[in-house]
Amino acid sequence: MADLVFQRCINPTCGGTADRADTAFRCPRCGGLFDVAYDWNKLPVPKSLKHFEGKWANRTNPLDFSGVWRFRELLPFAPDDAIVSIGEGQTLCQRADAVAAYTGLNAGRLFLQYEGMNPSGSFKDNGMSAAFTHARVTGATRAACASTGNTSASLAIYCAATQMMRGVIFIGSGKISYGKLSQALEHGALTVQIEGDFDDALRRVQEVSRQLGIYLVNSVNPFRLEGQKTIMFRVLEALNWEVPDWIVVPGGNLGNVSSFAKAFGELVDLGLISRVPRLAVINAGGADTFYQLYEKNGLRWNGGQFDQSKIDGYYAALDANNRKADTLASAIEINRPVNLPKALRAMDRCNGVVRAVPDTDILDAKAKIGAGGLGCEPASAASVAGLRQLVQEKVISPSDSVVCVLTGHELKDSDETVAYHSADKATFDAKLGKRGVKQVAFANRAVQVPNDLSAIVRAIESRA
Ligand code: F0G
Repeated sequence: MADLVFQRCINPTCGGTADRADTAFRCPRCGGLFDVAYDWNKLPVPKSLKHFEGKWANRTNPLDFSGVWRFRELLPFAPDDAIVSIGEGQTLCQRADAVAAYTGLNAGRLFLQYEGMNPSGSFKDNGMSAAFTHARVTGATRAACASTGNTSASLAIYCAATQMMRGVIFIGSGKISYGKLSQALEHGALTVQIEGDFDDALRRVQEVSRQLGIYLVNSVNPFRLEGQKTIMFRVLEALNWEVPDWIVVPGGNLGNVSSFAKAFGELVDLGLISRVPRLAVINAGGADTFYQLYEKNGLRWNGGQFDQSKIDGYYAALDANNRKADTLASAIEINRPVNLPKALRAMDRCNGVVRAVPDTDILDAKAKIGAGGLGCEPASAASVAGLRQLVQEKVISPSDSVVCVLTGHELKDSDETVAYHSADKATFDAKLGKRGVKQVAFANRAVQVPNDLSAIVRAIESRA
């Protein structure tokens, strides 16, 4: 299998490669990002996506039960007996008419891909099962990540459930929600809180991993992104293999968008679908590097010859003004997205657009998603807030079919949700007011009543 699967620099003019088992995750020639590349002509590929429907009949096999590995012919980098699964990817793609109405889409046109149903409560488990599989092939015994919370929760749960590696987690101080921090601690990961934010932590974890030979599970690891391709395979499966017009996804480190475009590109190349959907990436307004560079500065993939000086200039200006990422959507509070070049390629491949939405819009969209029956964390709701903006701009038409990816579970960040709905000004201000939120549109306030039967009855009858 080794020569049929290798790592290849994403820069088409560089041509750098590395062995499948290499764990540097950087092109040795140019320092660029790697893809996992396959010699598809020599690998068994199904003739039709309908092939995967057969896997449902074989759910006692953990590999066919997994929402990642039942698609393993499309990420064939490891033999079956090396695959690590803890039952990830049992997720829903749910039609969401109430949310569609909020965004301006017609009924029946919006689907929410709910990744909160994963074992650790976020989409990260799709990639973590793939990274652990690769790590097992390489014989790693320790794994590390920097995280805004979900990657670390996922790493911690995979370490605990498999007992395969010790997890080491780098987080920025005060930058991670309690739900996520509690997961890292509960599942026994070594948790290192460094002074600084995610961007600082990511730089450090790469240095430390290199120095200590620790396996890195951040999304610079291209094997993680192979696992995340399956989110789109499950979307297609739920839509009866019809390609939607749009996929809308929050953008942080830009791993998902890169992975999704790779998935669709490969499906087209393999003749399994006939067209790719368009991609919309939604930044939070307080962490909008991709939006600024792509939409405002005109940065483009340009066949791999993207203008690095635009990126360097942008980062230099961030530093000069001491501007740090700042958003209530803490999962995507990232100013230096490590997959930026791959995401440029994704925009090129899937005719993409990027938008940035303010925190207030994110929180209102989150409340609407919750009222529609799916609980997500703030970063996830950026997708719906962004969709609403794109419909208002007429970039997306009310009759387009759209899938918004809800990346993480609502319980990841219940403090923000309670503050949003709180009738208590101090609770609101402590979490939201002091971060610039002035008012919210869809608060569902708890009703205060005395401990008195008739008062309780009156309170209920007057409202419901
Ligand atoms: N949504 C959630 C809930 C996330 O946790 C993240 C990233 C994203 C969206 C952005 O995805 O990086 O692929 O663009 N969280 C990382 C973490 C950074 O450390 O958990 P992306």
